Amino acid sequence: MIQLKLAVDAVKPFLSDEKINHFQEKINTAHHDLLENTGAGNAFLGWVNLPSSIQESLLNDLLDQAKTLAQKAEVYVVIGIGGSYLGARAVIEALQHHFCLMLPGKYPQIIYAGQNISEDYLVDLMEILDKKEYAVSVISKSGTTTEPALAFRLIKNHLENKYGKKEAAQRIIAITDEKRGALKTLADKEGYKTYVVPDNVGGRYSVLTPVGLLPIAVAGFDIKKLVSGAKEMELFLKANKTLESNPAALYAAVRNALYQEGKSTEILVNYEPRLYFLSEWWKQLFGESEGKENIGIFPASVSNTTDLHSMGQYIQEGKRILFETVLSVENSHHKLPIPNDDENLDGLNYLCNKSITEVNQGAEEATRQAHSDGNVPNLRLSIPQINEENLGQLLYFFEFACGLSGYTLGVNPFDQPGVEAYKKNMFSILGKPGF
Ligand code: PA5
Repeated sequence: MIQLKLAVDAVKPFLSDEKINHFQEKINTAHHDLLENTGAGNAFLGWVNLPSSIQESLLNDLLDQAKTLAQKAEVYVVIGIGGSYLGARAVIEALQHHFCLMLPGKYPQIIYAGQNISEDYLVDLMEILDKKEYAVSVISKSGTTTEPALAFRLIKNHLENKYGKKEAAQRIIAITDEKRGALKTLADKEGYKTYVVPDNVGGRYSVLTPVGLLPIAVAGFDIKKLVSGAKEMELFLKANKTLESNPAALYAAVRNALYQEGKSTEILVNYEPRLYFLSEWWKQLFGESEGKENIGIFPASVSNTTDLHSMGQYIQEGKRILFETVLSVENSHHKLPIPNDDENLDGLNYLCNKSITEVNQGAEEATRQAHSDGNVPNLRLSIPQINEENLGQLLYFFEFACGLSGYTLGVNPFDQPGVEAYKKNMFSILGKPGF
């Protein structure tokens, strides 16, 4: 059952139905192009059918692999950057205990490397790895990205010194292109277990390949439920294309309509700290897909209520180029009563008959009203609860919406030519041969 709901009533004061419905025709074309492989970047549409075509045998293999790694390792290092780690981190952090690094558990603790070039970060990491039993996945579709390659060189060296070359090779899983790239060459030479990033799936759309699924399985979460949620959403979004029946189509149309009205920044808002990395994943998905040819909505994010005390002022009264999409979670997993206090010096007794989630939801509704009054249109995307199935639905929803929205905007949502610019300069500055 489709659990996710999109409400757009709070954009209606800013946008007529006519302006939204105007996009139906473009959405029809975009929908057709995604399903029939006829649009720009169609060599990278493998993600469209991914949830329904993923082999049960691959899922079982990943689960077996996760079990083997869990027997060897108390810590599992995920090395990758951008699309090669954000999806895994988004799901793992959405599902894990907020303080899991302080709780020894049944599954390895997941830590991340290769997302920065900070010497101090890497020194601190080595210090931890000296003391822990660990294993590693190095994830890079191209196999040549500097940040993960550098982190992997250091960690491989550390692993070999700690365990010897043979055992180190048993603790390394490479997830990369089937045939090409330096990582593939290295993995073949050293005999690492490898998984393939399909050729037709770009990094930011790869969370439902081994790129995301292996780390999520190692962390102890149910990848079959995640994929099945995504599959439900896939079948639903493929079968419907009207703005009334397809929430991804509606989301894509409303974003494009708001963009035409000068709302050039979208803020993804969450009220659950565990969704922080989902926003990071979403920012890459939409930013890298749509920001090109000098156009595109700038994707930003806030985590509330934390950021109401830092970014709230700007959102309420700054430059009116913003709209918000609120990721709303209807139910928490746990309940914690608010105790009565006879003295009530903090004045909070009025909250005692409410749950903390009700207080949070009160803050969400109050903010929506305030931002609407401040001319910030609001969309609301809600799920009943954070779990694997709903996250699978959400991930696929955003991917499909991004494809529709990018085509509607008129760009190729599946390339990222701009990412190369800094690399060329960096290679030249650092003296890489040939640059
Ligand atoms: O979406 C993308 O293609 C990029 O963000 C990549 O995921 C990122 O640059 C990492 O690339 P690679 O997996 O080749 O190391």
